[in-house]
Amino acid sequence: MATSATDYHGQTSYDRHKLDGHFPDWANKPNLCKKYPNLKTVPLHHEGIPDEKLSQVIGKKEMAKNSGSVSLKQLCQIFSLAYPLTVKSHYPGGEFLHRSVPSAGGLFPCELYATLENVPDLDDGLYHYSVDQHSLVQLRGGKFLGYDVMTSHSEASGKESRPLMSFFITAIFFRSAWKYRDRSYRYHLLDTGHLLENLLLPLKALGLRFEIHYDFDDSKANHFLGLDSQKEVCLAMVRVLGNQTSPKASAENIEDLPETCQNASQVSPKEIQYPELWKIHSATSLVRPSPDPPQDMISQTGRVPDSWEKIPQPEKWPREMSYAQSVLTRRSLRNFADQTLSESHFKALLAMLCAGDRHDAFQENSVCMGFIAGNVENIEPGSYWVDRAESSVGLIRAGNWISSMTHICLDQDWLARAAVHFFFAVNLEALEQTWGPRGYRYAMLTAGRLGQRLYLGATAMGLGCCGIGAFYDQEASALSDLNPESRMLYLLGAGQVKKQF
Ligand SMILES: Cc1cc2nc3c(=O)[nH]c(=O)nc-3n(C[C@H](O)[C@H](O)[C@H](O)COP(=O)(O)O)c2cc1C
Repeated sequence: MATSATDYHGQTSYDRHKLDGHFPDWANKPNLCKKYPNLKTVPLHHEGIPDEKLSQVIGKKEMAKNSGSVSLKQLCQIFSLAYPLTVKSHYPGGEFLHRSVPSAGGLFPCELYATLENVPDLDDGLYHYSVDQHSLVQLRGGKFLGYDVMTSHSEASGKESRPLMSFFITAIFFRSAWKYRDRSYRYHLLDTGHLLENLLLPLKALGLRFEIHYDFDDSKANHFLGLDSQKEVCLAMVRVLGNQTSPKASAENIEDLPETCQNASQVSPKEIQYPELWKIHSATSLVRPSPDPPQDMISQTGRVPDSWEKIPQPEKWPREMSYAQSVLTRRSLRNFADQTLSESHFKALLAMLCAGDRHDAFQENSVCMGFIAGNVENIEPGSYWVDRAESSVGLIRAGNWISSMTHICLDQDWLARAAVHFFFAVNLEALEQTWGPRGYRYAMLTAGRLGQRLYLGATAMGLGCCGIGAFYDQEASALSDLNPESRMLYLLGAGQVKKQF
């Protein structure tokens, strides 16, 4: 049983010589949309958003001021872009409803909740967002924004200002475990990262100031949301900051929600328990007091480049669709054309990946980003690190490693035609020494967040992108010249595609 992220990651590694076939039980396929019986439901409108380009929204700096209130229209805008159903695709056995975010295996473990107060025409309370109905299901009535789910070690900033609303992202273990078994905690975290980034974008577009919380008291948050915490757990939280100060948040006991709410965390009639998932989740539950300042993770993770080259934004930004259109048309595209990715497209993707964050935020420095350039204009083929704070890249090893990496990614052949593979990696031991096992959450969530940017950036510019969670772990680390304690966490192929959907 894994009690550290290093152990968990090692135990759930794929090995070319030991991969056992697993056939998911189709009769027990989990439902993809959580249902609560007999609770009050508030339908939402589909609302557009000001017609900004994706790069403008991603690049927005933190708002200087908190907002006074949130309107119902703004709330609808947020949900219409954060986690909506988007397009239908048809396959021989039926149809599939895509969403604004990708998800490993299309299993969508994530659920979205919000605590809302003082939104005109909406009762105060805790709500669950029903993806298929585009509606809010009221779980609690009353004012709960003052309820404290933080630990005494959670980040201090903003605690004194009363949030305007709070969002919680959870993952239901069995949805992904049905197919990926013990390895699925990786995907719970990556998928949560994708959704988290996609939730932040409408907040940025609407000029709302927010804080991301990776650190909170897991059991308080799960209890507040009424989850069966053996089956569903909270993994990320966002607070939109208001301009009113509040009395110290209250940590008083809060009522249990009825059992029917907890039962809603069950998504299949016959769920198999994967104790390893609960074990790694518990291992990552502890929040370390006052984390050390960010470390230079790249030097601890792999070979340090001899030199770094600044990659400026493209002189002429490529044509780009609006932010909303990018979200609503995003798909995983695998039909890569064997074509050179232009310098301006590459620079624009990189600019979006490096943009607008708090580079000092320790969680965002918990993972290293690199790429394998295969067919990119004016970039020597090879593997590179990216220094996101400096927008610079450094060559790790020259050579065209795209087909070797494709072989490592379970021979998903279409990846060989992608112009570039972006990857995220970390020294797991250094991560845990610095932040404890919870550091694993920071690294995976950040990788998922940046993965979402890459997907949307590619979509906006008419390129393709697809995430890859399936690879032979040891081989992937070796190819990227990582230190023995380091591992690749996630990879995404990007490049020109033959045709758009
Ligand atoms: C964490 C993660 C891992 C993924 N791994 C793979 C993969 O190994 N191979 C693949 O073809 N697609 C992979 N995908 C893409 C999903 O299969 C895809 O998102 C899902 O089928 C829904 O389709 P859509 O993205 O077109 O809406 C991955 C996506 C995510 C977010």
